[in-house]
Amino acid sequence: MACMNLEDKTFFILGIANGKSIAAGAARALRAHGARLAVTYQNEKAKKYVDPVAEELGAEVYVPCDVTEEGSLEAAVAAAQKTFGTLDGAVHSIAFAPRDDLHGKVYQTSKDGFALAMDISCHSFARLAAATAPLMTNGGSLLTMTYYGSQKVVDQYGIMGPVKAALESLAMYMACDLGPAGIRVNCISPGPMDTRAASGIRGFDALMDKAKNKSASGTLVALEDIGNLAAFLSSDAAKAITGQVHYIDHGASITD
Ligand SMILES: NC(=O)c1ccc[n+]([C@@H]2O[C@H](COP(=O)([O-])OP(=O)(O)OC[C@H]3O[C@@H](n4cnc5c(N)ncnc54)[C@H](O)[C@@H]3O)[C@@H](O)[C@H]2O)c1
Repeated sequence: MACMNLEDKTFFILGIANGKSIAAGAARALRAHGARLAVTYQNEKAKKYVDPVAEELGAEVYVPCDVTEEGSLEAAVAAAQKTFGTLDGAVHSIAFAPRDDLHGKVYQTSKDGFALAMDISCHSFARLAAATAPLMTNGGSLLTMTYYGSQKVVDQYGIMGPVKAALESLAMYMACDLGPAGIRVNCISPGPMDTRAASGIRGFDALMDKAKNKSASGTLVALEDIGNLAAFLSSDAAKAITGQVHYIDHGASITD
């Protein structure tokens, strides 16, 4: 598809922990369609796992970014601006909840735990938009990753359900805020993927089995599938698509 060409378009990628990260899948597909990339790692401890991915992606900007640290996100975006001048899009693929809060009853979530989960997993998307939108002078695309647990009560997903519901709503409102600037905002909602973040969810194997059994084809989604969707949504081929949640789960979310 000609208009899926991302040749020389520039993207800011937040959320690669290793090669299995959903952000890595998105970045690979963007790169395969010609995009130039700015990639972040959370901290020095995480860096050695991200290094090979940044190299594989030919990342032209490679900087730390911990969204809980004052000014860290803005500094990372400034580094991208220094190299690229402008941006054509950003991918937000991060989430966190303190273990005790994630595994407890939702109504017993601590105030601090809830605030931290919301800050890292949801409000950081607004901050990413605030930092990158001024650089998207020719319009652009903002993507974030959500999950079906926002719409249905998924066993063991805990407070991440309400947090993802807030993220989806945030994306919808941001789509209207940023529409006049030609910036589109979309959520990708993948079926379960075996990533580092997922390993923190109790009973994740059972969640994978269920998703497979509920899917239309008896198949789990693959990282490349999510990447292809990310590339499509980031491209001009999707220029009329904004404010939506795009499920990519072989239909698991439509069956009972
Ligand atoms: N794995 C799944 O089954 C699944 C399904 C649907 C949606 N998602 C979502 O996809 C996104 C990416 O998760 P993943 O599964 O690829 O896991 P992952 O562990 O590979 O990525 C999570 C990323 O969040 C980053 N992060 C956490 N706290 C941060 C902070 N304070 N500052 C900066 N970065 C921080 C980590 O460094 C890591 O890179 C998350 O939003 C997750 O909820 C995952």
